[in-house]
Amino acid sequence: MSLQSLIDLSNLPEHIAIIMDGNGRWAKQKGKERIFGHKNGVAAVRETTEAAAELGVKYLTLYAFSTENWTRPKLEVNALMTLLVKSLKGELKTLNKNNIRLTAIGDLSNLPKNCQKQLAEVIEETKENTRMVLNLALNYSGKWDLEQSMKKIAKEVENGSISSADVNADLIASQLSTYGMPDPEFMIRTSGESRLSNFLLWQLAYAEFYFAEVLWPDFRKDDFYHAILSYQKRERRFGKTGDQIKQLS
Ligand code: FPP
Repeated sequence: MSLQSLIDLSNLPEHIAIIMDGNGRWAKQKGKERIFGHKNGVAAVRETTEAAAELGVKYLTLYAFSTENWTRPKLEVNALMTLLVKSLKGELKTLNKNNIRLTAIGDLSNLPKNCQKQLAEVIEETKENTRMVLNLALNYSGKWDLEQSMKKIAKEVENGSISSADVNADLIASQLSTYGMPDPEFMIRTSGESRLSNFLLWQLAYAEFYFAEVLWPDFRKDDFYHAILSYQKRERRFGKTGDQIKQLS
């Protein structure tokens, strides 16, 4: 029996967020440069995107580059940006063929110009696609997202269009970069690290976390299915008791 067939399609997370970790270690294990790991990570991105769309997941957010990643050696950062542009170019046809829409969150204005241009092009050319949203977190961090939301709200208070009493969780969420998407119910991180690393701090408040030992370039559909099966065994309580949840279902 295949792992995929064990998945209950009526109990899928609508939005899955993934921290793709372990590319550097994967390359090191093979005696190669770190960028070799990133290059092989693209295959895992492709497999995971395909697996998620096939199952019927609606949003897949991938942490591709954090605001902290700029501190890596310049050579690695440049190679990552080039890889991103190349991958975006290369995947446009496949995204359209599979009816997948690309979106991006993060401080995109600080990405290299050619990267911004390529990204804008793929976002524009896939904007009518409806099967799944592939959302790339690029130059993103959860603290940056909260900061830019607070700044916009502070401006509105400052210019008098709202008062401080109007500031609440809904308003803060409405100014986050993920506005319009449901919060991820499920977060996967590969490579055995169990940290959030400044990912979607606000949006993951109620998410289930799954930490896999596998390094990102080795992540395949079956690893994804294992993760979903683990999610489906869990009881999501949102602060209620287990008995209350049973009565509600
Ligand atoms: C983390 O591994 C990975 C990244 C910082 C970049 C992820 C990028 C890709 C998979 C390639 C391009 C992506 C797309 C969406 C086309 P790490 O370098 O932190 O690994 P380490 O922890 O072993 O050093």
